[in-house]
Amino acid sequence: MKFNIILILISFTFGFPEKVISNPTPRPFDAIFNFGDSLSDTGNFLATGANLFPAVGHPPYGETFFRNATGRCSDGRLVIDFIAEAYGLPYLQPYLKVIKSNQIIRNGVNFAVAGATALGVEFFNKEMGKLLWTNHSLNIQLGWFKKLKPSFCTTKQDCDSYFKRSLFVVGEIGGNDYNYAAFAGDITHLRDTVPLVVQTIAKAIDELIAEGAVELLVPGNLPVGCNAVYLTLFSSKNISDYDENGCLKAFNGLANYHNMQLNFALQTLRTKNPHARIMYADYFGAAMRFFHSPRQYGFTNGALSVCCGGGGRYNFNDSAECGSKGSKVCADPSTYTNWDGIHLTEAAYRHIAKGLINGPFSIPPLKPAFIKIA
Ligand SMILES: *[C@@H]1O[C@H](CO)[C@@H](O)[C@H](O)[C@H]1NC(C)=O
Ligand SMILES: *[C@@H]1O[C@H](CO)[C@@H](O)[C@H](O)[C@H]1NC(C)=O
Ligand SMILES: *[C@@H]1O[C@H](CO)[C@@H](O)[C@H](O)[C@H]1NC(C)=O
Ligand SMILES: *[C@@H]1O[C@H](CO)[C@@H](O)[C@H](O)[C@H]1NC(C)=O
Repeated sequence: MKFNIILILISFTFGFPEKVISNPTPRPFDAIFNFGDSLSDTGNFLATGANLFPAVGHPPYGETFFRNATGRCSDGRLVIDFIAEAYGLPYLQPYLKVIKSNQIIRNGVNFAVAGATALGVEFFNKEMGKLLWTNHSLNIQLGWFKKLKPSFCTTKQDCDSYFKRSLFVVGEIGGNDYNYAAFAGDITHLRDTVPLVVQTIAKAIDELIAEGAVELLVPGNLPVGCNAVYLTLFSSKNISDYDENGCLKAFNGLANYHNMQLNFALQTLRTKNPHARIMYADYFGAAMRFFHSPRQYGFTNGALSVCCGGGGRYNFNDSAECGSKGSKVCADPSTYTNWDGIHLTEAAYRHIAKGLINGPFSIPPLKPAFIKIA
């Protein structure tokens, strides 16, 4: 330990880090723009007051990396943070903070809001509307981007050359469209919603391309049938409802169906916009690796139980959620995939990001990283 510190000091003094870190090739991207939900929100939801999920504004949220709550729904960094690191860019600032502080931002902005849906709030009925954490659906986030655009560039030529060197990440989004219905107990119409959700995502991508986006990464859904909230709410005595990893087949099937439909839609978008590079981010496949062999990825507490929760088979208890009375946080979140029952740990997000940056879970591949993900 001491030796390491000395080495760092020496290399600082002699300017070694410059040599090690700076790359002969230029940075692949100048900016990242992100749209989505709690899987990638870096503070927008918290900036709106987080009324329906106040726990996100306090430790243990954020304890692992930022050492304080940032509004990220995890113990630390999210996939989007690891992507930013890999491309040598700063962590994305949440839009609602950027507009408040009047900062000039050149390296990208995050429009994602925890709880956001792909479909607009008008789609959800009154009963379900009460469950929505936020009304800032994908289309609202797109509007935020358009509003901010004049602060990045003014002429078309200017914008085209700036956005050509920007990565647009659209998703994960849509998971909540199914979550809200499922958590309200209405699972009969989930499949019928998929084409609508996918169309909405495709339309947003099309609009971003019209605005000048050229490089777009589009994450699919995670295997939600392996998620503690689903495993708890829809636990079954019938063992044939579970796959060999202990996940609920029906909900992984739903995520797969969404992902398949999304891939069809992306193929249509590629044909229509041959100059754009539209990449599918296979979150399902990347996460399935550790749900299948958790120990191989350091998840020594298995892949299904929750680090921060209030007891029960998966340590997820609706009445004692992470951060509230009756819940306890584990000693080492890096040995769990699941942080709070719904969201994953930094360790799990790191593995997913690695699968995207190093391959093979971005299809086609992302540009090579500037800095490797450890
Ligand atoms: C921790 O984060 C909260 C919420 O974002 C903030 O109110 C508080 O001032 C922060 N505390 C420290 C010690 O930075
Ligand atoms: C969303 O909008 C509806 C009205 O359309 C409102 O009743 C509800 O409180 C809003 N929800 C949030 C979280 O702001
Ligand atoms: C168990 O589930 C399977 C399909 O998941 C179904 O075919 C079978 O009828 C169920 N068995 C019972 C006893 O409910
Ligand atoms: C869930 O939490 C509530 C409130 O703390 C508690 O009364 C209940 O026993 C818990 N259930 C389980 C299964 O631990």
